[in-house]
Amino acid sequence: MKIDFIDLKSQYAALKTSVNERMQRVLEHGQYIMGPEVKELELALAQRVGAAHCITVSSGSEALLIALMALDLQPGDEVITTPFTFAATAEMIVLRGGKPVYVDIEPDTCNINVALIEAKVTSRTRAIMPVGLYGQVADMDAVNAIAARHGLAVIEDAAQSFGATYRGQQSCNLSTFGCTSFFPSKPLGCYGDGGAIFTNDDALAQAFREIRVHGQSARYTHTRIGVGGRMDTLQCAVVLAKLERFDWELQRRADIGTRYAELLAATGERADIELLTVRPDRNCVWAQYTVFVDHRTEVQARLLAQGVPTAVHYPKPLHLQPAYAADCCPECCPQSVIAGQRVMSLPMSADLTPAQQDHVVAALLEAVKPQ
Ligand SMILES: Cc1ncc(COP(=O)(O)O)c(C=O)c1O
Repeated sequence: MKIDFIDLKSQYAALKTSVNERMQRVLEHGQYIMGPEVKELELALAQRVGAAHCITVSSGSEALLIALMALDLQPGDEVITTPFTFAATAEMIVLRGGKPVYVDIEPDTCNINVALIEAKVTSRTRAIMPVGLYGQVADMDAVNAIAARHGLAVIEDAAQSFGATYRGQQSCNLSTFGCTSFFPSKPLGCYGDGGAIFTNDDALAQAFREIRVHGQSARYTHTRIGVGGRMDTLQCAVVLAKLERFDWELQRRADIGTRYAELLAATGERADIELLTVRPDRNCVWAQYTVFVDHRTEVQARLLAQGVPTAVHYPKPLHLQPAYAADCCPECCPQSVIAGQRVMSLPMSADLTPAQQDHVVAALLEAVKPQ
């Protein structure tokens, strides 16, 4: 049986007519940059998330960069974040001359351990940047409370958690601003690069819009330093088409996640496959369906031999990466190091069939047996 790690082909087959029609419309009207689909998508997403403003940008990384530019992060300013994330989270802080200050993760969710944040706040701290890893947001109320006590901004890196909810509210609308990614493999993806920033703050929204177009407040009036950070009209058209069945996809992801948990737990109290914890006040949109295993390299090889591709998000936390190691001591985030050695993501997409899922589970149970 052949299983894709993420099945974008079946998704395209299901949405082919609307994707093609929407792209065709863009090709014909010819407004490839800032065409009408950009505004249409921004309105649809803002409404969906419940935020006053959505500003589409050229990627999730650019969303974080523009957010930090709007905050006017200065060289030496500190941003508290997790080391157990994709590099872009810390990379954008460093690109602004800032210093990522790493706080270790909760071992069962792999999200930032909020109880450890306040000890890292200094007079240079400007913001806290939690990440909704694997599609489950961090404890945002607790993060916001710490931020309020110290006058800090909270930037939610929601690249993996678009569509998730926390205490009845949507990811991306849980703090000063939320940044997401429409990278093709994300829960809501386009066919290239794309991203968005959400906020309820009118002044920040204006800043994001200006920074996205080289700091222009009016044509050729460069009020501030910006970037070329627009999302292509064609990519906005793709996301608009994908929104048509996004609620169905979210439900499918939830059901597949629940079924994975049931099938893996049904085999008894397992020490060899541990599941991620989803906190009762939130859900997980399973950007990745990640489990913990020992002897991961061998397990992955055995799975691949059975036609089951896997991935590791992420093998080495940022504080141990050559480009970032200078900012932190190697011992400061032990749980991130352990998670990096044990996490393994299984195939997950809305079109994964029960038969495919059964095959993945059977292959995994076999692969973790002592050989
Ligand atoms: C947590 C996190 N932050 C930021 C990004 C960057 O998003 P993009 O690839 O759209 O630039 C990603 C993408 O993988 C991500 O997973």
